[in-house]
Amino acid sequence: MAESKMDRSRYPSHPAQVRSARHHAAQVLRGWGVGDSTTDAVVYVAGELASNAVRHAHTSQGREFGMTLRLLESIVRIELRDPDPSLPPDVSPGEDLEADGGRGLLIVERLATSWGSAPEVLGKTIWADIPLETAAGEDRAALCPEGAS
Ligand SMILES: Nc1ncnc2c1ncn2[C@@H]1O[C@H](COP(=O)(O)OP(=O)(O)OP(=O)(O)O)[C@@H](O)[C@H]1O
Ligand SMILES: [Mg+2]
Repeated sequence: MAESKMDRSRYPSHPAQVRSARHHAAQVLRGWGVGDSTTDAVVYVAGELASNAVRHAHTSQGREFGMTLRLLESIVRIELRDPDPSLPPDVSPGEDLEADGGRGLLIVERLATSWGSAPEVLGKTIWADIPLETAAGEDRAALCPEGAS
């Protein structure tokens, strides 16, 4: 899969920074010409994964989380990295969105074509692939001319 654009950013591990990460993702994707529905989905996923990185990554090994956005052929891949090595649990698509708590990853599961986690030397990355909206297939060709399929 040819990578056409990439953006990396880092944030102090504080709840207020979730909003910063969401705003940054929205700005970057608009700058890349990504359409509103894909951008909205990526921003939503950014918020859930960033919030998890702040709330659930318990470690003295670092106080930052990182976000990488990649524009690929037919998806936007978002990656959130935090310094806690514990990987998130599997979620099953049939689980109850109305249940209290544990909703974030279920929403990621529904918005992403695939998602997962990978250990890093320090901590881990949780990634999700959000499909590019392809109105008449034009967006995609315009965004990634070298990746036309
Ligand atoms: N970055 C992470 N590091 C460590 N554990 C995580 C991380 N992200 C998620 N988890 C684990 O997976 C569980 C499910 O995450 P999920 O986002 O679905 O729910 P939640 O954060 O507990 O609640 P909600 O997102 O609905 O406010 C968390 O409770 C936590 O135990
Ligand atoms: Mg959560």
